[in-house]
Amino acid sequence: MKDFTGKVAFITGGASGAGFGQAQIFSEAGMKVVIADVRQDHIDEAAAYFQEKGAPVHIIKLDVTDRAAFAAAADETERIFGAPPELLIMTAGVNAFGPVEASTYDDFDWVIGVNFGGVINGLITFVPRMIKAGKGGYIAATVSYGAFGAAPVVAPYSASKAAVLNLMESYFLALKPYGIGVSALCPANIKSHIYDAVLKTRPNNLKDTGYNVSEETQEFLSYAHQFGIEPRVLAEWLKKGIENEQFLILPYEHGARMIELDLRRFIDYASPEGMKRLDERMKQPPTKEQLALSLEKEGYEMKPDAAPPMPDVGFGKARADLDWVAPDRRA
Ligand code: NAI
Repeated sequence: MKDFTGKVAFITGGASGAGFGQAQIFSEAGMKVVIADVRQDHIDEAAAYFQEKGAPVHIIKLDVTDRAAFAAAADETERIFGAPPELLIMTAGVNAFGPVEASTYDDFDWVIGVNFGGVINGLITFVPRMIKAGKGGYIAATVSYGAFGAAPVVAPYSASKAAVLNLMESYFLALKPYGIGVSALCPANIKSHIYDAVLKTRPNNLKDTGYNVSEETQEFLSYAHQFGIEPRVLAEWLKKGIENEQFLILPYEHGARMIELDLRRFIDYASPEGMKRLDERMKQPPTKEQLALSLEKEGYEMKPDAAPPMPDVGFGKARADLDWVAPDRRA
């Protein structure tokens, strides 16, 4: 997709962080934008911004896990802007940190429900409408670089993102004949508010967590996210990727090399010699190239003077009362 003017975009999670940057960039590209988001405080801020701009932006309060509400939001979009979206961007997402062995059903149900379930709901709501409209179009998901790696302190999140990446690839292959392009945007660290989702967005019926969640750990995360990529810059990468019809969009100059290095572990996992190679590699300090790529990706990692001091606030640890979790992994 190269021409955005006058077309409709529907962006989940569009009222904050990455999604808000996308709403700005695609609105500036001349699109009519629907923002669908669950948080009233984020909605109010986004509404004030676009009202001041006088841009055609319509905001719908939507929980992406609510399938009936998703269908109603699609109807509302057609009523307001006269057509289903030609650009669907699924960015709504949440995160929670803690040792995987301490995870509860609620930890998985919340994170997988929003991150993976929300994308499934978006696809099932909109793909038939887009195909029926017969105009082609584009679908993107804000996935995560986390989709490429196992992460024992943020496992439900990584698993949800790996699932989204895989699903988007299936749709990429399936929707070609309909003239609908598909992309997966995979950033590492974003300057956003994702860290407070666990306190402010998590619903009461999924509150039972095995993780230590305190205001202090949130403060640490809020600090680390300041070093992330600016949402508007990230959205420019997405727009360029869509224009180039590129499936995988890594918003970094050396993105392809990052993937090459990070995925070679699968070759090693697949043989006894490989497992030995991997063991040896894990013992080595990171190479200069790895350090540079890590800095490019995370914004602060490996940059000693900018790195946030890791305060002892139980970040990424289990709840203190889970006595079967190893003591050093408990708050
Ligand atoms: P953010 O918290 O600033 O924005 C996410 C938006 O999604 C919020 O406005 C929130 O209200 C909304 N949302 C959450 N649950 C929802 C639900 N059930 N229904 C509808 N809307 C919902 O966070 P950020 O970082 O901008 O997140 C956007 C996406 O980027 C997420 O999918 C996240 O996983 C992904 N991502 C974030 C990274 C980061 O470092 N912050 C890194 C890589 C990917």
